[in-house]
Amino acid sequence: MASLTLISQSHTLLRKPSFSPSATPLNPSSSFIPRVFPFSKTQSFKLPRMATKSYVVSASTAEMPRKRYPGEAKGFVEEMRFVAMKLHTKEQAKEGEKEVKQPEERSVRQWEPTVDGYLKFLVDSKLVYDTLESIVDKATFPIYSEFKNTGLERSEKLASDIKWFKEQGYAIPGPSSPGVTYADYLKEISENDPQAFICHFYNTYFAHSAGGRMIGRKVAEKLLNKEELEFYKWDGDLSQLLQNVRDKLNKVSESWTREEKNHCLEETEKSFEHSGDILRLILS
Ligand code: HEM
Repeated sequence: MASLTLISQSHTLLRKPSFSPSATPLNPSSSFIPRVFPFSKTQSFKLPRMATKSYVVSASTAEMPRKRYPGEAKGFVEEMRFVAMKLHTKEQAKEGEKEVKQPEERSVRQWEPTVDGYLKFLVDSKLVYDTLESIVDKATFPIYSEFKNTGLERSEKLASDIKWFKEQGYAIPGPSSPGVTYADYLKEISENDPQAFICHFYNTYFAHSAGGRMIGRKVAEKLLNKEELEFYKWDGDLSQLLQNVRDKLNKVSESWTREEKNHCLEETEKSFEHSGDILRLILS
């Protein structure tokens, strides 16, 4: 609980950044983490190794060391990953820090999924991926077009899984409130807030390639006689596809100000909320 509160507090700091790395003179003898460092309170003793090592003199400040954000040395994707991992529960992922509050935040091994619930989850997930993929195709902001045809697209795969369920005799539900709400939200931010949109893009595709696959395996074992759905198959080498997208995300975010980066990181919580609402359908 404490860590969750602290992350929320740090998000407040993210929202109103009071320092600009290039403009603020930092005192090298001050505590390791700047007072306004986004994760200062949670991180004082727990900085990941890579962040500790990356405490280096930056080119722009010559002899003045600039304190880095967790993951910053590796690129912005690592910063997004750092924030996302903290928002897991320990039961979900070992780097998680959040307290279990919702049923889907427990260990997947303890889940009691239902086929009807899983179908609702697949239908709502398809709506979300349809939305993400059409936003990227339309590319209201030119940076979105970097993310066309990454090989991570899930919309067609989900269409074929849903068709398979239909062929098995299941009635296919219409999209439900969690999926509709999330799709509407994605459309809205994609029009005027590219940093927020990119945060959702990253979290949705990368979550699916990590925890999502584990969920797919466990649910298939319990409900589908181990039938592996297309949702969990990629054409090509998944780790290479993910790396290509990481490279593009790092490149796109290079031109963002620190405030824009912080705004993107801050959006992670919303991504977890919406995706959590959709995941919970599996248990309904
Ligand atoms: C039951 C739910 C979930 C489980 C069991 C789960 C589990 C995991 C696990 C095991 C990892 C890999 C950690 C590692 O690299 O060592 C991971 C990574 C990740 N998860 Fe989740 N997760 C869940 C939900 C979510 C949600 C709702 C989001 C956000 C929408 C999310 C976002 C991410 C991201 C961004 C990564 C990093 C992926 C990467 O570095 O490639 N996860 N998750």
